[in-house]
Amino acid sequence: MSRPIAIRRSGPDDGAAVTALPAATYPILMAPAYETATLSRALPLMVRANPVLLASGSFHVAGVPGQIVGCGGWTPERPGTGEVEPGLGHIRHFAVHPASGGCGIGRALFEACREQARARGVEAFECYASLNAEPFYRALGFTKLAPRDIAMGDGVQFPAVWMQCRL
Ligand SMILES: CC(C)(COP(=O)(O)OP(=O)(O)OC[C@H]1O[C@@H](n2cnc3c(N)ncnc32)[C@H](O)[C@@H]1OP(=O)(O)O)[C@@H](O)C(=O)NCCC(=O)NCCS
Repeated sequence: MSRPIAIRRSGPDDGAAVTALPAATYPILMAPAYETATLSRALPLMVRANPVLLASGSFHVAGVPGQIVGCGGWTPERPGTGEVEPGLGHIRHFAVHPASGGCGIGRALFEACREQARARGVEAFECYASLNAEPFYRALGFTKLAPRDIAMGDGVQFPAVWMQCRL
């Protein structure tokens, strides 16, 4: 019988594993939705773990130490601008390894975020969903607000979907 996957808050020591996971995950799962040239420019800018996020207390990982198969979190700050709006949270850096995909780990990470955010008075989440992940966020209750190109630095624009979910 398989054991339920453990979800816990990340810490600074998870940096290497949290960088390795998107590096192993994004190229495979994003490939069907993006031009190869777009991914090859954007991925190096996207996969690095963000130390502030890791230490924020609102970033979660799935798995056991040394064997992390999923990650994802939320912040009160809007990614890119740092803007904070009362009652609004922002979903950040969700990834589940393809070998563990489709087993409910992404949803479990989202529920950990939702429970924590609700307890802090957050009433809605927004996210900038990668094109491949739009159906995942729809399954979680998000609706599409608008298509949105994300400026990644170095002149790279990454097509995404701006979405919102009431908590
Ligand atoms: C998106 C991602 C995190 C989903 O993780 P996951 O663990 O496979 O998702 P889950 O198994 O928890 O699925 C949750 C729900 O979403 C649905 N879902 C997930 N991916 C889907 C897809 N591609 N198409 C349709 N539905 C999908 C599932 O059917 C499930 O619905 P249910 O709970 O109602 O049965 C994972 O595919 C991933 O890492 N993708 C690449 C990275 C990425 O794009 N991250 C988002 C950045 S914004």
